[in-house]
Amino acid sequence: MDRAAALVEAIASRAGPRLPELEWHEAIGSTSDRLKDLARSGAPEWTAILAERQTGGRGREGRTWQSPPGGLYLSVLLRPGAGPVSLLPLATGVAVAEAVAEFGVAGELKWPNDVLVSGRKLAGILAEASSASAGVEWVVLGIGVNVALDPGSLPAELRAGVTSLHAEGAREASTVGVAAAVLARLGVWYDAVREAPSRVVAAWRERAVPWWGSLVDVRMGGAVLCGRLVGIDDDGALVIELSDGARRRLVSGEVSSVRASGPEPEDRSRHRGERA
Ligand code: BTN
Repeated sequence: MDRAAALVEAIASRAGPRLPELEWHEAIGSTSDRLKDLARSGAPEWTAILAERQTGGRGREGRTWQSPPGGLYLSVLLRPGAGPVSLLPLATGVAVAEAVAEFGVAGELKWPNDVLVSGRKLAGILAEASSASAGVEWVVLGIGVNVALDPGSLPAELRAGVTSLHAEGAREASTVGVAAAVLARLGVWYDAVREAPSRVVAAWRERAVPWWGSLVDVRMGGAVLCGRLVGIDDDGALVIELSDGARRRLVSGEVSSVRASGPEPEDRSRHRGERA
């Protein structure tokens, strides 16, 4: 059996019947780009793409996702139809946090679905969807987990903000083992999105970084909104309170610059010349 077939078998034995097709690549531009092409040509739900490295890995908010060997690069296709999808990104975060917990690593969730350990990024999730009149045509969940990443293989400016399962002591973790755990937990939480959405929100809150009440910046494209973090609502949107007491509900963005105390929040929807 070749390496790809062995990987497929190991993952399928854990993920069960929900894995109609798993494609493995030693190197690819982006597993999500490949899967979006397959989605458009009718690939079935739970089709998954796994790669040892990516040459054009993409992150949230238009960022690059550095993808050297030692990381898990996995994309999964879902077809929720008319079912609810707003909680899917949060449910995926919970699934990934539970998967890494199987290896003894306690990840915390930063909205919407970054997995952090002591403030350092262990995993990121990119959810992309296409809608039609009948509902959501497909969702591609792109999941990157730093399993055995050598920090030296990342650009110097990223190293301090990144961790890996091996760096956190889970030296037995393999990309295949983590992929199998992620797919198995994702199955459970995908069902919960449809059958028990309040459980998804509760599970996410339980694992959230304890930033509630702190002042944060939320970057949305080039604009930055500053406010006090209130929580997430039942649809998974982030709620922040501005200096005038008004509450804003955000469905996308990047939360950063947490300050336990400081000046009162202001709505400074201004543009920063930050690099994506
Ligand atoms: C983030 O910015 O935190 C999300 C990162 C998502 C990276 C994964 S790796 C597998 C899939 N393919 C991509 O190009 N991106 C996602």
